[in-house]
Amino acid sequence: MKRVFSGVQPTGNIHLGNYLGALKQFVELQDDHECIYCIVDMHAITVPQNPKELKEHILDVAALYLAVGVDPKKSIVFVQSDVPGHAELNWILTCNSYTGELSRMTQFKSKSQNKESAPTGLFTYPVLMAADILLYDTDVVPVGNDQKQHIELCRDIATRINNTVKKTFVIPEGRFLKAGARIMALDDPTQKMSKSAANVHSRISLLDEPNKIKKSIMKATTDSEGVVRYDVENKPGISNLMTIYSVLGNMSMEEIEAKYEGKGYGDFKKDLVEITVNALAPIKERYEEIRHSDELIEILKDGAERANAISVKTMARVKKNFGLGL
Ligand code: AMP
Ligand code: TRP
Repeated sequence: MKRVFSGVQPTGNIHLGNYLGALKQFVELQDDHECIYCIVDMHAITVPQNPKELKEHILDVAALYLAVGVDPKKSIVFVQSDVPGHAELNWILTCNSYTGELSRMTQFKSKSQNKESAPTGLFTYPVLMAADILLYDTDVVPVGNDQKQHIELCRDIATRINNTVKKTFVIPEGRFLKAGARIMALDDPTQKMSKSAANVHSRISLLDEPNKIKKSIMKATTDSEGVVRYDVENKPGISNLMTIYSVLGNMSMEEIEAKYEGKGYGDFKKDLVEITVNALAPIKERYEEIRHSDELIEILKDGAERANAISVKTMARVKKNFGLGL
């Protein structure tokens, strides 16, 4: 069975972009892959975090994994910092990556923009991500489009080490969906939907109340043509809403276009509200059941043990190949 690894940062506001780009794939892959899903808390501290809130957000994301359908009987679910191998491998990979290639990462460039200096961890963030992936001999990494460059870097570092030191790592592949890999902000379809945008109506968080969902969708930016037609170039706003509609409502773009022929954006948006509210309601319900349960803690403890057992084997091989340790 092929091995799958992915992670989400515990920074609150998990949104439809995270769900449609990544989490949905997590669930789909479980039946015929060996899946490992991580809450990447060490990535979260590349920007300042309130320790109390971070702790809560770790459990929030863990509960959301389970609420969307990740099954701990099939998949390993754990917290990154509970497995020491991530930090250990991170250093070895750091010594085999270059400031030039890290400087080209667009996420770093945008996060450090207009700042005189940035935390070193923000700069080396993709190396820790490579460590996450390579630590488990991962074959497949399900993520949104925004992670493409990071996956490429991971492959470059692994290939470099395989060629110059010794064959050590499995070369992973990214897995990106056709629809949902890049959900845009509702208030500005030129920006991706993000956890950190100041305007709460730019995103739909998975735990939003129906009224908030309604408001955000009804306010969403469209265009003045008033025709429900999929055209990302010229009609990015309505096209983004159509992508959400299509995935959550299980309809093709052509079916949606036909359904709203001769109708305006108002009818379309009203239906999209209903589809979204109905899709998120069971997630919210399961989340509430599990979020404060002892079961959640047990699942994460068990997951960390199982992940650690795999990582220890990889680290022994890595250290041996590099000539490290006794
Ligand atoms: P993050 O919130 O950065 O930890 O991202 C978690 C996962 O969600 C990653 O696989 C991202 O690629 C994915 N993701 C984040 N934002 C979006 C978006 N707007 N559209 C699609 N996928 C996204
Ligand atoms: N960088 C990813 C993001 O922001 C999160 C992440 C960390 C990740 N480590 C990973 C994703 C390993 C996939 C595999 O979305």
